[in-house]
Amino acid sequence: MQIYVLFSVISMILIIIPFVTIIIFSIRASHNIHEKMINNLLQAPLYPFHDQNPTGRIINRISRDLYSLDLDLPFNALQLLISSSNYVINFFTCIIFDFWSLIVLPFAILIFRYYYNYYIQISSQLTRLQAKSKSPILQKMQESLYGRTTISLFGNDIPFIDKFNEIVNTYSKISIHKFGSLGFFGLRISLFSLLIYIAIIMIVLFQINYLSTSTLVSISIIYAYSLASYVSGFYTDFSTLELNLVSLERCLAYSNLPKESVDKLKEDERNSSIQGKIEFQNYSTKYRPEWPLVLRDFSLEINEKEKIRIIGRTGSGKSTIFLTLLGMLKPTSGSLLIGGIDISSINGDQLRRSISIIPQEPSIFMGNLKENLDPKNLYSDEEINNVLKITRLNKLIEGDVMKFQIEEQGRNLSLGQKQLISFGRAILKKSKIILMDEVTSAMDLDTELVITSIMSSIFKETTIITISHKMNILSNYHKIVILDNGKVSKIVYPSS
Ligand SMILES: Nc1ncnc2c1ncn2[C@@H]1O[C@H](COP(=O)(O)OP(=O)(O)OP(=O)(O)O)[C@@H](O)[C@H]1O
Ligand SMILES: [Mg+2]
Repeated sequence: MQIYVLFSVISMILIIIPFVTIIIFSIRASHNIHEKMINNLLQAPLYPFHDQNPTGRIINRISRDLYSLDLDLPFNALQLLISSSNYVINFFTCIIFDFWSLIVLPFAILIFRYYYNYYIQISSQLTRLQAKSKSPILQKMQESLYGRTTISLFGNDIPFIDKFNEIVNTYSKISIHKFGSLGFFGLRISLFSLLIYIAIIMIVLFQINYLSTSTLVSISIIYAYSLASYVSGFYTDFSTLELNLVSLERCLAYSNLPKESVDKLKEDERNSSIQGKIEFQNYSTKYRPEWPLVLRDFSLEINEKEKIRIIGRTGSGKSTIFLTLLGMLKPTSGSLLIGGIDISSINGDQLRRSISIIPQEPSIFMGNLKENLDPKNLYSDEEINNVLKITRLNKLIEGDVMKFQIEEQGRNLSLGQKQLISFGRAILKKSKIILMDEVTSAMDLDTELVITSIMSSIFKETTIITISHKMNILSNYHKIVILDNGKVSKIVYPSS
């Protein structure tokens, strides 16, 4: 009795220790990989990484693949530990009780390995394909949800539903093949387990006269049966683990992305600001190495505090100029100096602290207005209130406007109001350079007047580059640069 209790306690301890160890290590590993992935994704360059990787693909990795790492992998590892120990124990027990079963076992192992290799090669490729084919589903779902008003307005539901069905079908086809391959493997493994069992029983029967007791015969048969099922369990668990390692491989790929050189700023760099003079010197750039130049031999000098307007046909490279100023596109030749310093030698973080951009479609977060104006909580309530007054955002609601709740993607704000928030951020940041891309195109006259007055008062000392097709506020600009095919074709001085 005591010996049974002792065995039970020892076996419990032997199960609990590896269980707890695996869980602790897997939580720690998942946590570290998650941290690394998020940091790397935030620091990955916009070009080419974010430009070439749709959000659906990224969301898939930080949801489905990470889930596999959190929940599937540790339990697979545990399962494999249990089935492999059962496998080894049964293997030796079989040999101890009936030495001749050793004749069958090497053949069995070789056959299992053959099928295992065959299955795992196909299945791991199918798992990769399955994970890849899921990203477009997430992407399409996101696009359709955000654009559902426009889609319905144009009566374009059917093509969207057809496209969605098509990508779901692709995903289902791959999934069916994956499950089919698992069925193929499972069937063969079970069949060969049965064959091992039969072979060992035959061996036992052939030497039944030589085995000393009937107990020995039954033990040999019982262990042969268990061995057959444990071998199949071992290979199934091993293959599941290997397939789930594909998720680990995908997560690790995102935790080793090339980083943009946005190093941590030193204290003196944090407080220094880049001056507002901009010089493009025979600057050429392109989006990808194999694609044609978008800006070619572009030369332009913009003095501090100047207000510049850039016009040009669609595709002439206006928005590209902004990307180069923010250090997101690198030059293929020539140089770009800001405040007399070549931007390739300026820390990316410092560069973007000194430049504000007001895009056509500003980024708005879910939360209150204060959080949207000052996401890093750097400014006092007084400064923020002042900005709300300047931008007239204080007229948005009655009462405490800073607590005004903004919905996802700023759905409860007009485009003009979103741009005013963006202006508010630029005022708070006190940047030396402000870039505005088609800001006034969707604004009513009143909001445009607010912007014009901000430009001539608050941003008097700031260098401003504007892309705008509207002709009504020409007089505010020192220069109008006409761009053609990535080159300056003409500069007009409105004052003259
Ligand atoms: N992400 C990108 N990847 C590759 N090429 C791009 C990308 N964005 C723009 N381009 C190409 O660069 C060229 C200039 O584009 P850009 O967006 O700068 O034009 P734009 O003058 O701002 O046009 P618009 O008036 O329509 O906004 C175009 O030929 C465009 O096809
Ligand atoms: Mg543009």
